[in-house]
Amino acid sequence: MEICIVGTGYVGLVTGACLAEIGHRVVCVDDDLEKIATLKQGRMPIFEPGLDNLVTRNRREGRLSFTTDLKEGIEAATVIFICVGTPPLEDGDADLSAVEQVARQIGELSSAYKLVVEKSTVPVQTGMWIEKTLKVYGGGKDDRFDVASNPEFLREGSAVEDFLHPDRIVVGVGHPRAERLLRDLYEPIVSGDFTCPTHGVCREAGPIPFVVTDIKSAELIKHASNSFLAMKISFINSVADLCELVGADVERVAEGMGLDRRIGRAFLNAGLGFGGFCFPKDLQAFVKIAEKCGYDFGLLREVDRINELRIVQAIKKLKDHLWILKEKVIGVWGLAFKPDTDDVRYSPALALIHRLLAEGVAVKAYDPKAMERVRQQLPSLLYCQDPYEVASGADALVVATEWKEFGDLDLPRVRTLMRRPLMLDGRNLFDPLKMKAMGFEYLGMGR
Ligand code: UDX
Repeated sequence: MEICIVGTGYVGLVTGACLAEIGHRVVCVDDDLEKIATLKQGRMPIFEPGLDNLVTRNRREGRLSFTTDLKEGIEAATVIFICVGTPPLEDGDADLSAVEQVARQIGELSSAYKLVVEKSTVPVQTGMWIEKTLKVYGGGKDDRFDVASNPEFLREGSAVEDFLHPDRIVVGVGHPRAERLLRDLYEPIVSGDFTCPTHGVCREAGPIPFVVTDIKSAELIKHASNSFLAMKISFINSVADLCELVGADVERVAEGMGLDRRIGRAFLNAGLGFGGFCFPKDLQAFVKIAEKCGYDFGLLREVDRINELRIVQAIKKLKDHLWILKEKVIGVWGLAFKPDTDDVRYSPALALIHRLLAEGVAVKAYDPKAMERVRQQLPSLLYCQDPYEVASGADALVVATEWKEFGDLDLPRVRTLMRRPLMLDGRNLFDPLKMKAMGFEYLGMGR
């Protein structure tokens, strides 16, 4: 099918590349001239495992192209995905101005039937507004457009994998036409009959669940799913606080809980809490949406409060052991909001570093992928070439992002490099008994 993707950020670029990979012809549009120029030179504006190969190969085979011209982009397309940013406003509401602008332009520029799909995370009832906008700016014809909601469940660091091998595909539609088009579009993924770039062979497992709902329910599934996952994390972080008070180990508790299939072990990792450009803003947006609809979602406000508290707890632990933080040297391993990504938006590591700098601490840091993104916003940080340089001369070391390479380091060497062998393991990456045996003063989160 002929597809147009509007917005080439994490969601748009992955969606475009993967739809091309399963055989569609995709034109990706963005008004960011530099981003499109980068993509046309075959370079990636973001780091996502496997994305560069996908883009390069599908461009070469003529199924994927990039342009800044929306009219050109939507000309041949039957299905148009809106993947523009919906960043948070001051009051937590989502900024939908980019979505409105694209909907208006699609209305004005379309001369044939289009299925307009909202993939960006949008508040419930946005689909209704897109329908109205298309009608008003599209000349008022009733059957010129359909709108659908097709929320993405992509995790950064595994977005390509999550797109090609999803747990489920959710589409919210208002007309059978829209459902038919989306079933055709996703058929290769549902049946698994495509040669996967990661796994090669076709899927052996059964078909992927294809969930069809009304538009509002589909919009709610995304916010409800993300908020539930965030709630799971804040729940285990509260249990971690209790574990410290009673002398239990939250990792053991999470293990015992997680074996219950109704609970599941994933997203029960205690630590510095959740960051990234999804959970924090989706949670606040969901609370705001509920409030605007007349419901006070107090449970989710508490999820947010517990998460904010993680950084306060970490600083307190450091003070309990260092007494005075001012002029101490503290090393931080990890800047990205989680491993396998270069994204530092809403990163707990940065929230902690801002607090340390405010206390007059000399902060050294290293991250395998995210340092370039931080240099501009944090010039007063000492950027190191490797984790050992971070440890050299440090009064304390904080594990802020659980990059796998940190788990493989020569820890006795790290210990000798440090001025004081104090480690705050913000992601419970290491084993407390082994660390103590190696002579570290080891502090975990909930252990
Ligand atoms: C999330 C959702 O997982 C994804 O489905 C949605 O489409 C977008 O938002 P993402 O934000 O990329 O994906 O990262 P995710 O892997 O969910 O982690 C989010 C944050 O939670 C990270 O800061 C991570 O460190 C933290 N986290 C995750 C925990 O603190 N504990 C856990 O057990 C799991």
